[in-house]
Amino acid sequence: MECAHTACLGGGVIGASWTALFLASGRSVAVFDPSPGVERSVRDYVEMAWPTLTELGLTQNGTPDAVSFHTSAAEAVAGAGFVQENVPERLAIKHATFAEIEPVLESGAIVASSASGLTLGQMQGGWQDPAQFVLGHPFNPPHLIPLVEVMGNDRTADGVVEGAERFYDTVGKVTIRVNKEVAGHVANRLQAALWREAISLVVDGVASVEDVDKAVWAGPGLRWAAMGPTMLFNLGAGDGGLEAFCDHFTDTFNGWWDDLGQVYLNDDITRTLIEGVGEEARGQTPAELSAKRDALITAMQKATAGLR
Ligand SMILES: NC(=O)c1ccc[n+]([C@@H]2O[C@H](COP(=O)([O-])OP(=O)(O)OC[C@H]3O[C@@H](n4cnc5c(N)ncnc54)[C@H](O)[C@@H]3O)[C@@H](O)[C@H]2O)c1
Repeated sequence: MECAHTACLGGGVIGASWTALFLASGRSVAVFDPSPGVERSVRDYVEMAWPTLTELGLTQNGTPDAVSFHTSAAEAVAGAGFVQENVPERLAIKHATFAEIEPVLESGAIVASSASGLTLGQMQGGWQDPAQFVLGHPFNPPHLIPLVEVMGNDRTADGVVEGAERFYDTVGKVTIRVNKEVAGHVANRLQAALWREAISLVVDGVASVEDVDKAVWAGPGLRWAAMGPTMLFNLGAGDGGLEAFCDHFTDTFNGWWDDLGQVYLNDDITRTLIEGVGEEARGQTPAELSAKRDALITAMQKATAGLR
């Protein structure tokens, strides 16, 4: 097996989920997190995630017991072929972590950062030589959402991005390649663009929070779970494909784009959204809603397995 032993640095929201996924794939995982309760919380998370991973057919080779807990990052990465870094999103902590592990990494080990907001270039500043270091940005929770955004640059050694992509493939992820450094990588920018317009529609009184949410999940969101927006529009004008679609809709889209909202979050807007989502939740707790979200995502993944 490629990289039979792995490490997760940081065992919070993202690190615990990666740990569950790597364990499920049959790998052992060494975890380092200075928080005193981390062993309990990571073990609890793995136990919670295991039935879902089993339902998705991902645990045939794995055991939740192949996890170990360590007292330093340097100790945790010893012997690991793949290291997923999930420490807090603060450059100083990322840099200190990289400086600590660089001298003791296995030869050829790949280190991937989960960072959402920091760029690869900023994080490379923590390395003497960042040749084996890539961005490997997941979506929460990584054990359930397939996407990982992978990025290297001219300081990354040949084959390392491909090695990371191969590793993610073996644990059941779908990777995309980020070719250029931008804030938020790719998918978070797409989320931000859609959310801005969703908020603008609420603030303008066009529809309620609940109805704007419904317009996404019951409408285009279902199609987007099948295919991306450009391919869908390629299928949106019959046999003429995207050329016919653009021919028909260029003026329409350009007009809509000129009209899109330019809102920024502030206290008033945040309050409006909180009230709206409170009504939409109808008394269900965040834990109940999270469980419902995960059950729906799991059911969709199961139903579509093998269809791509
Ligand atoms: N939460 C998300 O939705 C999400 C999604 C994708 C990527 N990310 C990225 O994942 C990374 C981790 O985010 P999170 O949401 O899991 O944060 P979190 O706060 O839940 O977890 C961070 C963990 O790191 C631990 N920690 C603190 N200092 C450490 C150190 N020196 N070495 C090792 N561990 C240390 C903390 O005790 C904590 O358990 C961030 O870079 C974030 O941008 C988060």
